[in-house]
Amino acid sequence: MDKNYSTTTNSPAETIDFAKKLAELIKVPALILLKGDLGTGKTLITKAVVSELGYHGDVTSPTFNLVQEYQADLEIIHMDLYRLDSSEELVEIGFEDYLNREAVVFIEWPELALSLIPADFIFIDIEKISDNQRKITVRGEGNHSSLLIERLNQEC
Ligand SMILES: Nc1ncnc2c1ncn2[C@@H]1O[C@H](COP(=O)(O)OP(=O)(O)OP(=O)(O)O)[C@@H](O)[C@H]1O
Ligand SMILES: [Mg+2]
Repeated sequence: MDKNYSTTTNSPAETIDFAKKLAELIKVPALILLKGDLGTGKTLITKAVVSELGYHGDVTSPTFNLVQEYQADLEIIHMDLYRLDSSEELVEIGFEDYLNREAVVFIEWPELALSLIPADFIFIDIEKISDNQRKITVRGEGNHSSLLIERLNQEC
């Protein structure tokens, strides 16, 4: 079973198309980790998936409060840990409780919480090739997420 999917996009619109395909395959609960330098497209992908899941309001990097919730037909949680000061702060925001919810959870800058990440997750790594080009690699860890990657490979 292929646990990886990768694609190179040449514009934000192409990245949004990828995100929509991903969104169609998501089943609750889902944990989606987004890794990549500043301005590579973590929020762009989150916003496109969230919109496909039925929430059409504002989606921005929740930089100052670390976590935002969006209510669609499903429960959606969006975290950005870039400004996390300490692991105690994760306890304060109830990080582990969020991960136990029947929700779709997005985490930008997940490397700051790796020790608390459960075994099943979708890991999206975005690499900036040039101003408009991104290499996107998706990995599934655990049965639930591996299956999703397999389906993504079948569809794309
Ligand atoms: N192929 C592409 N895919 C995604 N984004 C692209 C692409 N080409 C250009 N961009 C631009 O890159 C920017 C990505 O911004 P975004 O806010 O999603 O980054 P981010 O990874 O969330 O950054 P941060 O770490 O600051 O939260 C957008 O301005 C988008 O238009
Ligand atoms: Mg962001």
